[in-house]
Amino acid sequence: MQKNRFELLKTSSRSKARLGKIITGHGEITTPIFMPVGTQATVKGLTPRDLDEAKAEIILGNTYHLYLRPGTELIRDAGGLHKFMHWHGPILTDSGGFQVWSLKDLRKIRKDGIEFRSNLDGSKHFFSPESVMIAERNIGADIIMALDECTPYPSTEAEALKSLNYTLHWTRLAKEYLEKNPPLFGYDQSFFGIIQGGMHKELRAKAIEEIKKIDPDGYALGGLSVGEPAETMYEIADFCTNLMPVDKPRYVMGVGTPWNLLELIFRGVDMCDCVMPTRNARNGMLFTSEGVLHYKAGRYAKCLDMAPDPNCDCYCCRNFSRAYLRHLFHSGEILAMTLASIHNVHFYLKLMRDAKAHIADDTFEDWATEQIVKLQKVCD
Ligand code: GUN
Ligand code: ZN
Repeated sequence: MQKNRFELLKTSSRSKARLGKIITGHGEITTPIFMPVGTQATVKGLTPRDLDEAKAEIILGNTYHLYLRPGTELIRDAGGLHKFMHWHGPILTDSGGFQVWSLKDLRKIRKDGIEFRSNLDGSKHFFSPESVMIAERNIGADIIMALDECTPYPSTEAEALKSLNYTLHWTRLAKEYLEKNPPLFGYDQSFFGIIQGGMHKELRAKAIEEIKKIDPDGYALGGLSVGEPAETMYEIADFCTNLMPVDKPRYVMGVGTPWNLLELIFRGVDMCDCVMPTRNARNGMLFTSEGVLHYKAGRYAKCLDMAPDPNCDCYCCRNFSRAYLRHLFHSGEILAMTLASIHNVHFYLKLMRDAKAHIADDTFEDWATEQIVKLQKVCD
């Protein structure tokens, strides 16, 4: 079986921004990359054809949701998630650690795993580091994440250490399971460990040191964007990427806005995912080249001669006006959600392609600094 591979192609001379690629059994991913989130075997509102048109290179799935419904055996019997959902590019699955952690009153974390109740029907379940690997083998993503415990914010050093020790123990057990149990579908599955430790730098450093001994194929930063100020998130990411091996991909989980992504690329991050482009699209918000656009606002009711983003060449912006998109939203038409999601996903991915081109040309830093200011404005 051909192993997945990461190649570091360039590091900027003026920042920690990097260019790279990950070669998988379902094609190449060029980094830095954004992964649209497809929690329940669909990126909400979009067909795989829409994802192709947006030039998506990899999408994310969630073990927690797929385990509860439709069950990972069904996905295994379909020949894996790629076949089940008709997406033939690379996929990464999150482990469920974060989703179960988010259940709060419905879960109990123990040394051997997490006991929880389903948010769907209240039924009782247990995730162990090994059972999650069984589920991720069944789903068959190209990159799979270890079970972790996300540390709440704020947390004391003692609380963060307790949670970190669980994550480290679970990551070791997950790796041992994978070594004894090969993938089911004839292509490789990279294994990424998750760095926790809250906002405590010594704990983040300890986490990286311990995860390095496990030698995963990639390093994820978890427990970020959990309520801390953006500057703190950037500082932790910056601190951590300094300690991570240069020859492995670095993934910040669950972040963020377009400007967050550029800030993280500056700090040496290669991969990000977030529900924001699709969720915000469904709630009436677009990210555009001129800033944030609340397309449901009354001021766009008669805006017939302007595309949602005049500088965008996505299917939505090529063909529809702000007035039309607003009308669909206020009429409760599902097409509003689809068109807005098409735009936002296209916008995020185009931003990543632009970032790569600027890193290649040694112009990333000036370009990104300007974009970070521009993208945060609110359109009027
Ligand atoms: N998604 C966002 N944050 C996290 C995290 O800390 N752990 C996991 N597993 N997924 C996440
Ligand atoms: Zn567009």
